[in-house]
Amino acid sequence: MTDLQLARLAVEALENAYAPYSRFRVGAALVTDDGAVFVGVNVENASYGLTVCAERVAIFNAVSSGHRKVARIAVACSNGQEVFPCGACRQVLHEFGPGMKVVTLAGDEKVSSYSLASLLPHSFGPQDLQK
Ligand code: THU
Repeated sequence: MTDLQLARLAVEALENAYAPYSRFRVGAALVTDDGAVFVGVNVENASYGLTVCAERVAIFNAVSSGHRKVARIAVACSNGQEVFPCGACRQVLHEFGPGMKVVTLAGDEKVSSYSLASLLPHSFGPQDLQK
Protein backbone atom coordinates (compact mmCIF):
# COMPACT_ATOMS: atom_id res chain seq x y z
CA MET A 1 0.00 0.00 0.00
CA THR A 2 1.38 3.40 -0.97
CA ASP A 3 1.50 6.37 1.37
CA LEU A 4 -1.20 8.06 -0.70
CA GLN A 5 -3.47 5.00 -0.45
CA LEU A 6 -2.99 4.91 3.30
CA ALA A 7 -3.71 8.64 3.54
CA ARG A 8 -6.89 8.17 1.54
CA LEU A 9 -8.05 5.54 4.02
CA ALA A 10 -7.54 8.14 6.73
CA VAL A 11 -9.70 10.57 4.74
CA GLU A 12 -12.43 7.95 4.33
CA ALA A 13 -12.31 7.21 8.04
CA LEU A 14 -12.67 10.82 9.13
CA GLU A 15 -16.26 10.79 7.88
CA ASN A 16 -17.00 8.75 11.01
CA ALA A 17 -15.26 11.12 13.40
CA TYR A 18 -17.34 12.16 16.37
CA ALA A 19 -16.39 15.80 16.76
CA PRO A 20 -19.53 17.83 17.55
CA TYR A 21 -17.64 20.25 19.82
CA SER A 22 -14.53 21.18 17.86
CA ARG A 23 -15.99 20.35 14.44
CA PHE A 24 -12.43 19.32 13.60
CA ARG A 25 -12.67 15.81 12.26
CA VAL A 26 -9.54 13.66 12.14
CA GLY A 27 -8.96 10.26 10.61
CA ALA A 28 -5.98 7.96 10.97
CA ALA A 29 -5.06 4.78 9.12
CA LEU A 30 -2.16 2.56 10.06
CA VAL A 31 -0.47 -0.47 8.65
CA THR A 32 1.26 -3.00 10.86
CA ASP A 33 4.54 -4.79 10.20
CA ASP A 34 2.57 -7.77 8.93
CA GLY A 35 0.39 -5.72 6.61
CA ALA A 36 -2.82 -5.41 8.62
CA VAL A 37 -4.67 -2.11 8.33
CA PHE A 38 -6.62 -0.33 11.06
CA VAL A 39 -8.33 3.04 11.18
CA GLY A 40 -9.33 5.44 13.92
CA VAL A 41 -11.21 8.71 14.28
CA ASN A 42 -11.31 11.33 16.98
CA VAL A 43 -14.03 10.67 19.52
CA GLU A 44 -15.05 13.72 21.55
CA ASN A 45 -17.13 13.92 24.70
CA ALA A 46 -19.36 16.48 26.41
CA SER A 47 -16.76 16.29 29.15
CA TYR A 48 -14.18 17.73 26.76
CA GLY A 49 -11.09 16.34 28.42
CA LEU A 50 -12.18 12.79 27.71
CA THR A 51 -11.69 13.26 23.98
CA VAL A 52 -9.46 10.68 22.32
CA CYS A 53 -7.51 11.52 19.17
CA ALA A 54 -7.83 9.54 15.93
CA GLU A 55 -4.26 8.27 16.10
CA ARG A 56 -4.70 6.72 19.52
CA VAL A 57 -8.01 5.14 18.51
CA ALA A 58 -6.27 3.56 15.50
CA ILE A 59 -3.47 2.24 17.71
CA PHE A 60 -5.93 0.88 20.26
CA ASN A 61 -7.86 -0.83 17.47
CA ALA A 62 -4.68 -2.53 16.26
CA VAL A 63 -3.63 -3.60 19.74
CA SER A 64 -7.14 -4.87 20.46
CA SER A 65 -6.79 -7.22 17.50
CA GLY A 66 -3.39 -8.47 18.61
CA HIS A 67 -1.18 -6.24 16.42
CA ARG A 68 1.53 -4.42 18.34
CA LYS A 69 4.03 -3.44 15.68
CA VAL A 70 3.07 -0.43 13.58
CA ALA A 71 5.07 0.44 10.49
CA ARG A 72 3.24 3.52 9.20
CA ILE A 73 0.35 5.74 10.21
CA ALA A 74 -1.39 8.34 8.05
CA VAL A 75 -3.35 11.27 9.47
CA ALA A 76 -5.86 13.51 7.73
CA CYS A 77 -8.23 16.18 8.92
CA SER A 78 -11.46 17.72 7.72
CA ASN A 79 -10.02 21.07 6.67
CA GLY A 80 -7.70 19.42 4.16
CA GLN A 81 -4.54 20.88 5.65
CA GLU A 82 -1.55 18.91 6.83
CA VAL A 83 -1.98 17.82 10.44
CA PHE A 84 0.48 16.14 12.77
CA PRO A 85 -0.15 13.87 15.75
CA CYS A 86 -0.33 15.76 19.04
CA GLY A 87 2.37 15.22 21.64
CA ALA A 88 0.39 12.65 23.61
CA CYS A 89 -0.25 10.63 20.46
CA ARG A 90 3.42 10.73 19.48
CA GLN A 91 4.24 9.12 22.79
CA VAL A 92 1.59 6.41 22.30
CA LEU A 93 2.79 5.80 18.74
CA HIS A 94 6.33 5.37 20.02
CA GLU A 95 5.24 2.51 22.27
CA PHE A 96 4.07 0.43 19.29
CA GLY A 97 6.54 1.43 16.59
CA PRO A 98 9.50 3.62 17.44
CA GLY A 99 10.71 3.18 13.88
CA MET A 100 7.40 4.00 12.24
CA LYS A 101 6.73 6.62 9.59
CA VAL A 102 4.04 9.28 9.97
CA VAL A 103 2.31 10.15 6.72
CA THR A 104 0.49 13.45 6.32
CA LEU A 105 -1.80 14.71 3.60
CA ALA A 106 -2.33 18.26 2.36
CA GLY A 107 -5.08 18.80 -0.15
CA ASP A 108 -6.04 15.80 -2.24
CA GLU A 109 -2.70 14.24 -2.97
CA LYS A 110 0.29 15.98 -1.42
CA VAL A 111 1.64 13.31 0.90
CA SER A 112 4.66 13.74 3.12
CA SER A 113 6.41 11.17 5.27
CA TYR A 114 8.27 11.79 8.51
CA SER A 115 10.02 9.41 10.84
CA LEU A 116 8.37 9.31 14.24
CA ALA A 117 11.86 9.67 15.69
CA SER A 118 12.13 13.10 14.04
CA LEU A 119 8.79 14.14 15.56
CA LEU A 120 9.63 12.79 19.01
CA PRO A 121 13.35 13.23 19.61
CA HIS A 122 15.00 12.08 22.84
CA SER A 123 12.01 9.84 23.44
CA PHE A 124 11.12 7.88 26.53
CA GLY A 125 9.97 4.33 25.94
CA PRO A 126 9.88 0.72 27.07
CA GLN A 127 13.64 0.40 26.82
CA ASP A 128 14.08 3.00 29.54
CA LEU A 129 12.30 0.77 32.03
CA GLN A 130 14.62 -2.19 31.48
CA LYS A 131 17.24 -2.66 34.15
N1 THU B 1 -7.15 15.63 17.23
C1 THU B 1 -6.85 14.41 16.74
O1 THU B 1 -7.71 13.52 16.65
N2 THU B 1 -5.58 14.17 16.34
C2 THU B 1 -4.59 15.11 16.30
O2 THU B 1 -3.49 14.81 15.90
C3 THU B 1 -4.87 16.48 16.74
C4 THU B 1 -6.18 16.69 17.40
C5 THU B 1 -8.54 15.91 17.60
C6 THU B 1 -8.82 16.02 19.07
C7 THU B 1 -10.08 16.87 19.05
O3 THU B 1 -11.21 16.05 18.87
C8 THU B 1 -9.92 17.75 17.84
O4 THU B 1 -8.93 17.15 17.04
C9 THU B 1 -9.52 19.17 18.16
O5 THU B 1 -8.42 19.20 18.99
